Amino acid sequence: MPGFAASSVVFRPYSAADFTACLDLFDANCPEFFAPNERTDYSAFLGLGREGYHVCLVDGSIVGAFGLIDGGAGCTHLNWILLDPRFQAVGIGSAIMHRVDALARASGSALVRIAASHKSAPYFGRFGAKAVKVIPDGWGPGMHRVDMELRL
Ligand SMILES: CC(C)(COP(=O)(O)OP(=O)(O)OC[C@H]1O[C@@H](n2cnc3c(N)ncnc32)[C@H](O)[C@@H]1OP(=O)(O)O)[C@@H](O)C(=O)NCCC(=O)NCCS
Repeated sequence: MPGFAASSVVFRPYSAADFTACLDLFDANCPEFFAPNERTDYSAFLGLGREGYHVCLVDGSIVGAFGLIDGGAGCTHLNWILLDPRFQAVGIGSAIMHRVDALARASGSALVRIAASHKSAPYFGRFGAKAVKVIPDGWGPGMHRVDMELRL
C-alpha cells in the first residue's frame, strides 16, 4: 500500500453489522495465519458481540480488528487481532499495539495476555511479549499455540 499512512486509520467499537466484514478478514488470513477450524471459534466470539472488540477502518472500510477483553486481577486479554493482508506491514499493527498499551494501562492492567501462534509470536515479541507456554498443534494441525505475556 504505497504512500499509506497508518495514522489515517480510524478505530471504533465492533457492532453486529461488522460480522461479515470481520469473517472476511479471517478468511483472507486462512490458512496462512489461522487454522480453518478456528473459523467456528471466531464466529462464535463475534456472535457474542463482546465489549472490547474494535474494528480498524480506512476510508470507511474495515481493514482490521482486535479485542481487548478484561481478564480481571489487573490483566487484559488481547484477542483476535487480524488485518486485511492488503493492509499488513504498513504499520497498522503497530498502531494497534500502541492503542492496546494505552487502553490496558488506562483500565488498570499491568499485564496483557496474548494467545498467539508460532507465526505471530515473533511479532508480539517485538513489543516485549514473552512466550510462557507452547502447545504444538494447539490451534489445529500445523498451527502451534504460543501463550504470551506482555508486562506493561
Ligand atoms: C500480525 C499483524 C497484526 C501485524 O500487523 P502489521 O500491521 O502487519 O505489522 P506492522 O506493519 O506494524 O509491522 C511492524 C514490524 O513487524 C514486522 N512483522 C509483521 N508481522 C510479523 C510477524 N508475523 N513476525 C515478525 N515480524 C512481523 C514487520 O515486518 C515490521 O517490521 P519493520 O518495522 O522492521 O518493517 C498482521 O500482520 C496480521 O494481521 N497478521 C495475520 C493475522 C495474525 O497472525 N494475527 C495474530 C493472531 S494471534
